[in-house]
Amino acid sequence: MSASRGEFTSRFGFILAAAGSAVGLGNIWGFPTQTAGNGGAAFVLVYLILAFFLAYPAFMAELVIGRHGQANAVTSLRKISNNSTQRIFAFIVGFGGIVCAALILSFYGIIAGWMMSYAVEPVTRVVGLTAVGDWVISQSLARNLLFVSIFMFMTVSIIRFGVEQGIEKWSKRLMPALIIILLSLIGYVMTLEGASEGLQAYLLPDFSRVLDPNLLVSALGQAFFSLSLGTSVMIIYGSYISRKENLVTLGAQVTLIDVSIAFLAGLLIIPAMYVAQASGVTIFGEDGSLVSGPGLVFSVLPALFDGMGSMGVLFSFAFFVLMSVAALTSSISMLEGPVSYVVENHGVERKKATTLIGIFILMLSCIIVFNLGTLLDFVATLSTEYGQPIIGMLCCIFVGWIWHRNNLLSELQSGYEGVEHSLFWKIWPWYTKLVCPLCIGLVFFNSL
Ligand code: PHE
Repeated sequence: MSASRGEFTSRFGFILAAAGSAVGLGNIWGFPTQTAGNGGAAFVLVYLILAFFLAYPAFMAELVIGRHGQANAVTSLRKISNNSTQRIFAFIVGFGGIVCAALILSFYGIIAGWMMSYAVEPVTRVVGLTAVGDWVISQSLARNLLFVSIFMFMTVSIIRFGVEQGIEKWSKRLMPALIIILLSLIGYVMTLEGASEGLQAYLLPDFSRVLDPNLLVSALGQAFFSLSLGTSVMIIYGSYISRKENLVTLGAQVTLIDVSIAFLAGLLIIPAMYVAQASGVTIFGEDGSLVSGPGLVFSVLPALFDGMGSMGVLFSFAFFVLMSVAALTSSISMLEGPVSYVVENHGVERKKATTLIGIFILMLSCIIVFNLGTLLDFVATLSTEYGQPIIGMLCCIFVGWIWHRNNLLSELQSGYEGVEHSLFWKIWPWYTKLVCPLCIGLVFFNSL
């Protein structure tokens, strides 16, 4: 992105930044946890369908709104509104997304802090500070407060000192490294006893669960969470894409990267749970379902690394460092939402806005840390399972019902000449207008 309004320097730059936002804890912590909590393969199947058939079209809607508006979410939505009622609606949707991003960051920072603490632990072990290592990975108020503060400090610092350099440089190394480490861990797990049973649980769906309303809401929320939708983030990232770029393929590439990494993470964690079971760990609850919850990844993975001997220390360090970086490239995108709004629409200086909003969100995180048992789940469910799909759906309504079709087409034509003859243009406009809002609405109606 350049200094003025900002634009990604290359198509590669955008893919990296958007994939950096999309790939994060949602893929490696959220997806496996949800899969375990919702009956394994049935969840995977529904997730894949919803990610490609609902989240991708909604993702395209946000990108195109942003590139057309060349501004933060509220302003971009206002630009396609035709009268004052629609402009009020634009404010509600845009501002709602910004609030949603702030709420997500407030709980995201806590989990990211856990990732960082698990990255520090192997180091303490190598230098012989075992007691420190034990403290660092045990649940305590002080540990949580310390690490969420460090994480938020890093997020704020990156946004203050130049996003351009930051995101592109970090993401470029992150993605390949993440994929390599996931693949090697999957290869290792597959050699262990219990893995094939885990593979079955991950890949062979129990079709009777596929229409379970709770599973549907969770999978929808997970798909929107993973692609960073309904939070104003992709509208802003869209606003940084050059008019020379083809939005349709860019969006598809980012979706593919995101979904693939989540799938790989599940392919590691679920079999690793069954491997742990083979060595005596209980992985089923009293009702016979797989245990899950926010701590799942933090118990399954360290157990796996422990079994790898001295190599395990190295893997554990590399894995949790990569996870912390992945969380950072996502958290900076979340903070960019509220910051760009306050800077562009209220004339606050960028560094000042970043620090103030960062402190405010950290205060929210601290409130959650003090009430971890109740608030973590509540804020996560509220923002990801309700906030994101609802706001994402409202963006689809903007594109489908409010934006003039010809203007929408001419926006897509820049960077993609002949889009009007493509399959995309034959399907996507009515799909976004009718199918997306209807399906998202149905999932909610069903869950009530
Ligand atoms: N998509 C990110 C992840 O999977 C989380 C995120 C949500 C980022 C909303 C930005 C906005 O971890």
